[in-house]
Amino acid sequence: SDNITDIIDHVLYSQEDIQAMCKRLGKQLTADYAGKNPLVVGVLKGAVFFMTDLVREMDVVMQNDFMDVSSYGDGFESSGKVRLDIDIQADVKGRDVLLVEDIVDTGHTLKFMEDLLTKRGAKSVKCCALLNKTARRVDNVTVDYYGAMVKNEFVVGYGLDYLNKYRNIPFIGVLKQEVIDSNSNK
Ligand code: PRP
Ligand code: MN
Ligand code: MG
Repeated sequence: SDNITDIIDHVLYSQEDIQAMCKRLGKQLTADYAGKNPLVVGVLKGAVFFMTDLVREMDVVMQNDFMDVSSYGDGFESSGKVRLDIDIQADVKGRDVLLVEDIVDTGHTLKFMEDLLTKRGAKSVKCCALLNKTARRVDNVTVDYYGAMVKNEFVVGYGLDYLNKYRNIPFIGVLKQEVIDSNSNK
């Protein structure tokens, strides 16, 4: 059928689970960033959904911005080369920057952003990711805050895509293997 949830093998985190993660992280970030006027940067496109829920759980005066970076190459294999597609507008000099990600996988994306913002003079650069997938980690990055650790499975929904689809599924699910197989020769 044409229902997007048909591509889900099983639910990994329900909407309630995600809401609980956002509340827990929001409390922690409220305590850590109170009075710091942080620049909270969402990484397009995957982090948009998490970003909007997370910052509404933070009782902190902040500024919000977005940046888009992409790994070269296609499909599952990340080459390690990262390109800046859309930059933030804010000057980060002396600012406490919190990068918001849906998932940290190899770490290439996070490493690139951390290096860039540190070079520009940010006072601190930390990362809050909804999911932390360490199985394929290549770069030595610290995910300072995260909602949950995930295994090396292909997860979609709540911003996470497969071929730029399925981001709008309201929960996080594991993609059916047959969906991957049916696209592997295209
Ligand atoms: C995904 C995800 C993270 C990044 C993590 O983004 O949203 O930003 O990959 O992978 P890494 O740790 O191996 O670098 P993607 O580049 O697919 O863009 P998207 O957010 O637009 O889906
Ligand atoms: Mn992303
Ligand atoms: Mg993606």
